[in-house]
Amino acid sequence: RPRVLSGIQPTADSFHLGNYLGAVRQWVAMQETHDAFYCVVDLHAITVQPDPAELRRRTRIAAAQLFACGLDPERCTVFVQSHVREHSELAWVLICLTGMGEAGRMTQFKDKSAKYGEGAASVGLFTYPILQAADILLYHADEVPVGADQKQHLELTRDLAQRFNHRYGDTFTLPKPAIPKEVEKITDLQDPTSKMSKSSSSPQGILDLLEQPGPLRKKVMRAVTDTGSEVVADEENKPGVTNLLRIQSALTGTPIPELEARYAGQGYGTFKKDVAEAVIETFTPIRERTEKLLADEHELDRLLAIGAERAGAVARATMEKVRDRVGFLPRV
Ligand code: TYM
Repeated sequence: RPRVLSGIQPTADSFHLGNYLGAVRQWVAMQETHDAFYCVVDLHAITVQPDPAELRRRTRIAAAQLFACGLDPERCTVFVQSHVREHSELAWVLICLTGMGEAGRMTQFKDKSAKYGEGAASVGLFTYPILQAADILLYHADEVPVGADQKQHLELTRDLAQRFNHRYGDTFTLPKPAIPKEVEKITDLQDPTSKMSKSSSSPQGILDLLEQPGPLRKKVMRAVTDTGSEVVADEENKPGVTNLLRIQSALTGTPIPELEARYAGQGYGTFKKDVAEAVIETFTPIRERTEKLLADEHELDRLLAIGAERAGAVARATMEKVRDRVGFLPRV
């Protein structure tokens, strides 16, 4: 079986529809076909200095949501990144192989750091993609299921793997991104040309997995649509309607042309009502399972300990090889 690894940040109280369609839904499918490792990346989360109690709480919520979405601890490995120390250790080795200019070209760093004053973003935020490369390379992942926004980080990961292999001998697998068609970039409901994002979207533009049906329905009904009244996919001229069509199609399994035919001549109202219902139908059981899992923290922590054990075994073996290749003196 090919290996996959992916990660998600515990930076909000809930995942949103973009996280679900762009990433987590693929993770669930891939546990059947791949040897799968998925982590809640709390080391990445501290690049923006969250409150400690908040981080701990959100890490549990993130893990509970992953299980609630259908990840099964018997079929895949779900763990918390900081439970496996080798992530930080390999990151340092890779940081030393990365050029300043190379890291400086990462567009996500430029976007995220723009919110801080000149030079005020942490160095951790700057090296963030290199830690991500370490996550992936530690497990020799063949594929990495992510949304389109992670493409550049995956290219950096491949470059670093190649550089390490060239310099120290063949060690790492070159991973390929697995980016889902149509839902690689779900956009903000209020601003349908920007991606739906925990950090930059307004609450009205985001559909949260753990949200109640009432607010979900309201947000979909108030989503920005475009001029005209035809329900047709047209990225250029109708980004709002196109986004909703993609969402509806992904959630119901109905191809977009079929949806266009169904809503021909009906205007936006009926269409939006159906999109809202599809969202609610998908999210409600996930929210209910998440709440149940969070009620028993002890059990949740136990599942994560099992994941950390399995992930740690793989990570330790890789790191042992890396230490030797790099030339660290073995401790006897
Ligand atoms: P994060 O936590 O920002 O997002 C988690 C996943 O959700 C996808 N995503 C989207 N997909 C489609 N449309 C959207 N609007 C949307 N918003 C988010 C992201 O592409 C991602 O797949 N750097 C990663 C976390 C990470 C990681 C890794 C990923 C750390 N280590 C190793 C893969 C492998 C991130 O910021 O995810």
